[in-house]
Amino acid sequence: MRKKAAKAKNKTAAKKSAKKVVRLKAKKPAKKAAASNGLPRPSSKPWGQAGRALEDVKILDFTHVQSGPTCTQLLAYMGADVIKVERPGIGDFTRGQLRDVKGADSLYFTMLNGSKRSITIDSKHPKGKELLERLVKLCDVLVENFAPGALDRMGLTWEHIHELNPRMIVASVKGFGPGPYEECKVYENVAQCAGGSASTTGFRDGPPLVTGAQIGDSGTGLHLALGIVSALYQRLRTGRGQKVLCAMQDGVLNLARVKLRDQQRLKHGPLTEYSQYGEGIPFGKATPRAGNDSGGGQPGWILKCKGWESDPDAYIYFITQAPVWGAICDLIGKPEWKTDSDFATPPARLPRLRQIFDTIEQWTMTKTKFEVMEICNKHDIPVGPILSMKEIAEEPSLRATGTVVEVDHPTRGKYLTVGNPIKLSDSPAAVRRSPLLGEHTEEILRKVLRLSEKEVAEIRVSGAITAPEKPAKAAAA
Ligand code: COA
Repeated sequence: MRKKAAKAKNKTAAKKSAKKVVRLKAKKPAKKAAASNGLPRPSSKPWGQAGRALEDVKILDFTHVQSGPTCTQLLAYMGADVIKVERPGIGDFTRGQLRDVKGADSLYFTMLNGSKRSITIDSKHPKGKELLERLVKLCDVLVENFAPGALDRMGLTWEHIHELNPRMIVASVKGFGPGPYEECKVYENVAQCAGGSASTTGFRDGPPLVTGAQIGDSGTGLHLALGIVSALYQRLRTGRGQKVLCAMQDGVLNLARVKLRDQQRLKHGPLTEYSQYGEGIPFGKATPRAGNDSGGGQPGWILKCKGWESDPDAYIYFITQAPVWGAICDLIGKPEWKTDSDFATPPARLPRLRQIFDTIEQWTMTKTKFEVMEICNKHDIPVGPILSMKEIAEEPSLRATGTVVEVDHPTRGKYLTVGNPIKLSDSPAAVRRSPLLGEHTEEILRKVLRLSEKEVAEIRVSGAITAPEKPAKAAAA
């Protein structure tokens, strides 16, 4: 009975909705084309000409140094309009840090702030506060990586921002999440140490090491960008913004998760893929440093290549992947290892990794790293040349893909920057040079905030966007 009733109800509903569709068809033929999931019809424009992924998104960028700027630069590459707010006369401190060209913004700054606009606003000046509040009302996302509490001290608490603009997403990088260290200021290497990277990097008999890759700063900026894009997506359903927080300690730990994996494996016995196992050195209570051991199940090591005596980068990472073990044995002149029970299987090889890599190295030392790469790739053996930054800067394929981009700057001339490492087939990256300090202040006042010439003139002399200037009359007097 109940089934029958339900069927009848469904039929009526279906009829009703069919009628509704017919009505819609009759009224607005264009809507007929909309897909059943509510998305517009697939664009018929050529790939890459249908706008950029984030082109309608306005970002109020309060970031400085590296972690925050990495995030907003990526969003700008994806097409967002990133308005970087800087302190008048000073700007992001990195403009002047590690300067290589006198009087020009440093590469530290220019390589992290491409494709953005710069507005100078003194956030502690009453008029500056007013401008910021107007920008908050207009933008979609506020991104900041101040020390804990700094944004609140500017009067921009989450509650106030949410009141001004309930759709605003407020995204923050902090050193630590809630807990004993949340008030601490944090830089890259502090995060690498607190996130478990340093204790697991380096050689067993040496001190902990930090890595060259900026996993604390740039890594956390990347995490934050994902949080922002997700919040923007959720906002489509909820209509409201939310807070997005990425702690640098958490970001580093996320990237070092294999070491937390190993920490738990330790309870069940030694980590057999670590060379210390083959060397008969007992494991302690925590995941040890593993030198150049591979992080996964396929043993690997860095080996010398031809020229290593004078070239610090004449090395290759060599992985003894199990399926190509036979090919490796043939190449290095050890075909007997294919059937020798001490070497034929991965478990048999684990206690002999040192001997195996020493033998492979005798072979790699007779070739340049690029020759090893070429030979090994023909046999599907995974290897990676240790590329210097000079080699990377000069690598034509990285230029061709837009991963390394040359841009022109009015005060420093041409420089290289890293373009968008994330390639979208319908949203080509928009890589432009970094802005000069306050380069777009008046443009933003006029075109974004739509202020009149009179208002702009008043603000100019107020001290909110520049060091105070005397009005012409007063100056003449
Ligand atoms: N107008 C007026 N004042 C401004 C301003 C503007 N446009 N922009 C920034 N300021 C002020 C801030 O309000 C703050 O003042 P307050 O302390 O009186 O409130 C001050 O500048 C300095 O900000 P702060 O973030 O504390 O800078 P810092 O140089 O002391 O510390 C960090 C730098 C990176 C250690 C700190 O910002 C931090 O821990 N950030 C979070 C973690 C992080 O991102 N670290 C990685 C950096 S790559």
